[in-house]
Amino acid sequence: MAMRSFLRSRRSLSRSLLQPDLLRNPNPNPNYVSRSLIPALLPLRSYSPASDPTTKNPIRDAATDEINGFKSSLNPIEVAKFAAIAETWWDPEGPFKPLHLMNPTRVSFIRSTLCRHFRRDPYSPRPFEGLKILDVGCGGGILSEPLARLGAVVTGIDAVEKNINIARIHAASDPSTSSIDYTCMTAEDLVRENQKFDAVISLEVIEHVAEPLDFCKSLGALAVPGGAVVISTINRTMRAYATTIVAAEYILNWLPKGTHEWSKFVTPEELTLILQRASVSVQEMAGFVYNPLTGNWSLSDDISVNYIAFGIKESSSDSEKTRTVAEQKTDFVS
Ligand SMILES: C[S@@+](CC[C@H](N)C(=O)[O-])C[C@H]1O[C@@H](n2cnc3c(N)ncnc32)[C@H](O)[C@@H]1O
Repeated sequence: MAMRSFLRSRRSLSRSLLQPDLLRNPNPNPNYVSRSLIPALLPLRSYSPASDPTTKNPIRDAATDEINGFKSSLNPIEVAKFAAIAETWWDPEGPFKPLHLMNPTRVSFIRSTLCRHFRRDPYSPRPFEGLKILDVGCGGGILSEPLARLGAVVTGIDAVEKNINIARIHAASDPSTSSIDYTCMTAEDLVRENQKFDAVISLEVIEHVAEPLDFCKSLGALAVPGGAVVISTINRTMRAYATTIVAAEYILNWLPKGTHEWSKFVTPEELTLILQRASVSVQEMAGFVYNPLTGNWSLSDDISVNYIAFGIKESSSDSEKTRTVAEQKTDFVS
């Protein structure tokens, strides 16, 4: 089902690339809201010049400077939001409650896609035995820990020192997670160290970084050729605005107000193209849907709000071919 939906979105993507009208509104999905509507939707949130991408901001501009070809992914405003709530990572009723509730479903997608890709037995208790997995933007370790329990050799990195401290303390309390290597750093820092991983995973982070394309280039560079890249994020649709911002932040108070900026959400089509430019070819996508009656999340082919993508890092000969195609689409993603 998820694959069918993904193929459908790929088909609509190729249609959009062929039609100049659709290029201006690249997502033919009725849930899609053009970026030109953003000002009309913004009165719900307080305006801050610092969050206005058109305002000159020396801290942010310095953070996006290019170092050794890989631009910094740090958005100081976003990083500060997470530093402010770092103590609450493992509070089951705190602001990260939605991530805790979603986690078994996220792990189930990662387990099935990685087992298929790396030819592992999904029914084995430790199917990731020996796989080197990087969790970028690991926060307090909500994902890193189950990955370690599944046998992976996990490295968790995060831009916020407090998150890393919390993650280390929590993992140390259980022998099955105490081997996780947590460090406060960014993906581009690791690229500079020339590190490589069998799988690079970054869940719910891309919507908080400075430049999604540069961030994905770093993720791609960290995966071995033929390795896996998994990203989850929120689609930039009207439904996502209503549920993840209006409902979750303003009505239900699940998340602190201002946690998400709708304009930073990424559509599945954009993510596919961005990853393609990072030499990662998306193979599979699935949506996460929430059932308010049971409080559970499940996998679905509905990718209109929360979704996850699995891709494969191309070999150098593959990426040469892809780059030529992706370069023609530069205007669409930038
Ligand atoms: C919504 S949380 C997701 C945490 C974790 N990935 C999960 O899903 O359980 C986003 C995390 O990304 C981190 N982060 C934000 N920008 C980052 C960057 N440029 N590099 C690394 N981590 C970053 C934040 O500190 C925060 O811990």
